[in-house]
Amino acid sequence: MKTLICTLLLGLCAGFVQAAEKDKSFTIKFSHVVADDTPKGQGALLFKQLVAERLGGRVQVEVYPNSSLYGDANELQALQNGDVQMLAPSLAKFSQYTQQLQVFDLPFLFDDLDSVNRFQKGAKGRQLLSAMEKHNVTGLAYWHNGMKQLAANRALIRPNDAAGLSFRIQPSPVIESQFAQLGAKAVKLPFAETPNALRAGTIQGTENTWSNIHSQHYVEQLPYLTESNHGVLDYMLVSNTQFWYSIPHAIRMELEDIIVEVTYTVNQAAEQQNQNDRQKLLAGGKAQVTALNEAEREAWRGAMRPVWQQYEGEIGADIIRAAERANRSSKSLASY
Ligand code: SIN
Repeated sequence: MKTLICTLLLGLCAGFVQAAEKDKSFTIKFSHVVADDTPKGQGALLFKQLVAERLGGRVQVEVYPNSSLYGDANELQALQNGDVQMLAPSLAKFSQYTQQLQVFDLPFLFDDLDSVNRFQKGAKGRQLLSAMEKHNVTGLAYWHNGMKQLAANRALIRPNDAAGLSFRIQPSPVIESQFAQLGAKAVKLPFAETPNALRAGTIQGTENTWSNIHSQHYVEQLPYLTESNHGVLDYMLVSNTQFWYSIPHAIRMELEDIIVEVTYTVNQAAEQQNQNDRQKLLAGGKAQVTALNEAEREAWRGAMRPVWQQYEGEIGADIIRAAERANRSSKSLASY
């Protein structure tokens, strides 16, 4: 009799637990470091909106822009600890977890954003989304920002114009080496600390996309912008692996569908947003934008290119070659 009662009670408890699991709701805290009116900022808000429309009641998304919850120095740790559930750091910010993603930091590797897109959609690009699983970080998608430009307190036309300047960089060894090639100093600084460092004069240059240069008002101190398109600044949308796979299958599938839709929108709009911000910078009257001609661009390419050799072992020659093949012309293949 006792056994029967125990069994019934246990069954009842299991039923309650199952019902509670079924109705469990989830909060996704999405932290990022940029302004709302940037490709990533817009993507985060669209994700929040679509989740509210399609999964309201079951999943709630809270977006924290402008490093208001966590910044570059601690956001990945916060994700691993489960204090936030979603981030989209720049690809240059993962080198402590995988050296392979450094491929995106190699200067003059990708001809343009279309080439970046082809690589991300190819086999190697997709593989890299799971390169950090053992660190409890799951890659869900790539989001574009755009190609990087140079900003400084003096005109940068030839590579040696950068010699002696201190450039704020993201925490990427490849980018550090890229500036070392120019005889410049690279200072790894969180994004949110860059405006202060500029005001204090401890840095005299940086590289970033038009949208970040515009939204962070870099031209106040760095009015000389060189349209170099020398590298890419893109993002990986990531979640905490344990959290992600704890979401019931049907809800996770709906979230993944939403991510596909948001990714498409972000990636379609990013280039246009950057071009709009380029125009705003020109119209603002403070920026002096220099577009490099072919010969000048070739000189920058020649100066920065030795970095490829330096990092081939860490990144993997197969990954670099796959990235090169994503360029429509693949013209750089022969010289590598
Ligand atoms: C970002 O776009 O997320 C910031 C990139 C940077 O740190 O420069």
